[in-house]
Amino acid sequence: MNDTDAQQDLTTQAPAGAPAAGPPEEPPVDMEYVDQVIDRYGGQAHFALQMLLDINNEFNYLPQQALRHLARRVDMAPSNLYSIATFFKAFSLVPRGRHIISICLGTACHVKGQPQNYKRLQSDLAIEDGETTEDMRFSLQSVRCLGACALAPVMVIDDDTHSRLAPDQMLDILDTYE
Ligand code: FES
Repeated sequence: MNDTDAQQDLTTQAPAGAPAAGPPEEPPVDMEYVDQVIDRYGGQAHFALQMLLDINNEFNYLPQQALRHLARRVDMAPSNLYSIATFFKAFSLVPRGRHIISICLGTACHVKGQPQNYKRLQSDLAIEDGETTEDMRFSLQSVRCLGACALAPVMVIDDDTHSRLAPDQMLDILDTYE
């Protein structure tokens, strides 16, 4: 399969949760890093999931260019990589912000007032669920239970857990992230 076929395979299906207005433009990709990841796993296709995780962690999403390159180097059909990438919620096929906000809409958080927090966040950031701010600072995603129900309502930004939230705290919390 050549590059053109591969690109078509990876771009003809819109990823779930992509903004209706279309995904942000793909920024330049450090392909040296992608090669380092592939080399780290000996270029073996059965480590594809781990390679995808490393690439996703580095760029906060899976760049098309990196997916095509990975498919070629590990000799996998791009459609197989795409299947993995769309199966796991940890992956994104569209560029995401520097910080990922996961807001819990599970039952415990819901009854403790999370809908108001969520509304406030969407309004402050001027984005909907699954979207990224224009300055690429934040991406917002709703999740079902973060496993910290006793601390409800809960929001996680990157690896930081913010608990027992109130709507008027949201902006102060966001201000601590560049
Ligand atoms: S319902 Fe929100 S952490 Fe469990």
